[in-house]
Amino acid sequence: MLRTPVCGVLGIEVPIVQGPLGGPWQQSMELTAAVSNAGALGSVPTTMRTAAQVRDDVARLRELTDRPFAVNMTRRPFDAEVFDAVVATAPPVFSLALGDPGDLVSRVHDAGALFMQQVTTVEQAMRAAEAGVDVIVAQGTEAGGFSGPVTTMALVPQVVDAVGPLPVLPSGGIADGRGLAAALVLGAQGVSIGTRFLASAECGVPDEWKAAIRTAASQHAVKVLFAGHVLSAPTEGGYETVPRSLRTEFVDEWNDRPEAAVDSADALRTRVMAAMKNGTAHQLLPLTGQSAGLITDIAPAAELVHRLVSEAAAILRTTSRTLVD
Ligand SMILES: Cc1cc2nc3c(=O)[nH]c(=O)nc-3n(C[C@H](O)[C@H](O)[C@H](O)COP(=O)(O)O)c2cc1C
Repeated sequence: MLRTPVCGVLGIEVPIVQGPLGGPWQQSMELTAAVSNAGALGSVPTTMRTAAQVRDDVARLRELTDRPFAVNMTRRPFDAEVFDAVVATAPPVFSLALGDPGDLVSRVHDAGALFMQQVTTVEQAMRAAEAGVDVIVAQGTEAGGFSGPVTTMALVPQVVDAVGPLPVLPSGGIADGRGLAAALVLGAQGVSIGTRFLASAECGVPDEWKAAIRTAASQHAVKVLFAGHVLSAPTEGGYETVPRSLRTEFVDEWNDRPEAAVDSADALRTRVMAAMKNGTAHQLLPLTGQSAGLITDIAPAAELVHRLVSEAAAILRTTSRTLVD
């Protein structure tokens, strides 16, 4: 077992969070439950979900697990009606990304939930700590989905210094036990992982996307430079972030001339919206992190959790032996 203080805070057995994988595709509550049942913390994304759908998702999840889980929202955009619905479900943990927590913390705490805040800079982490959040996820630019400009390796020790003893969980570029061991060595208390769980058996995204992750090299997961002209802008308090996706014809075509996307913004938006509606959004923008290069199989989520823990524990036991006098 590999326990750190954040396990006690979140009520989990191993210090691993499954980052929410929201979008027009469905991550599946089976994935969330599999992660939570394996002793880590599964997440429920609410991106592009209505308040009623979120209530149904949480009810379904509660049929699948009695372990802690997080319900996630972002400020890209932030939907107050969905927030009310989330709070009413009284989740064990509420997680927020892509914008400052602002005055949401007291509402979440009053509902009996913990507040886990994802940040992309040291300043954001300090503001979140000041606002009273319980756990900080420090996400580097390697991450799949939306991320900031700083790498995980540079960001995490700075955030640990800035907000300690608040628990910090690195996110972005971590897919195996080496990443988890490295996180602990950097002074963090665990990890939050997205792309590795995208390529899991229970994840509900199309198989062709999972297969692409399995064969992709890290450099195939690129920033979508024209996204600002196509996807919705952050709402008040939102962070400046740019999504990372596997390369596709669509991504390459417009990344080569992002300025031209300004003139074609309406047409691009129409195309993306249509793909979102007909279930092919992953063929245009398969949001994926650089850790794709570390992923060579599609495995059950519980096995991934066990692998992460056993590899990290073995590395931490043996690493000091490689030091020479
Ligand atoms: C397909 C996809 C969808 C995502 N959706 C969300 C989301 O709805 N909310 C959120 O906070 N983060 C979202 N993320 C970010 C992940 O939760 C996680 O923070 C990130 O993937 C971690 O980096 P990694 O991919 O290198 O593991 C998404 C990431 C991916 C790849």
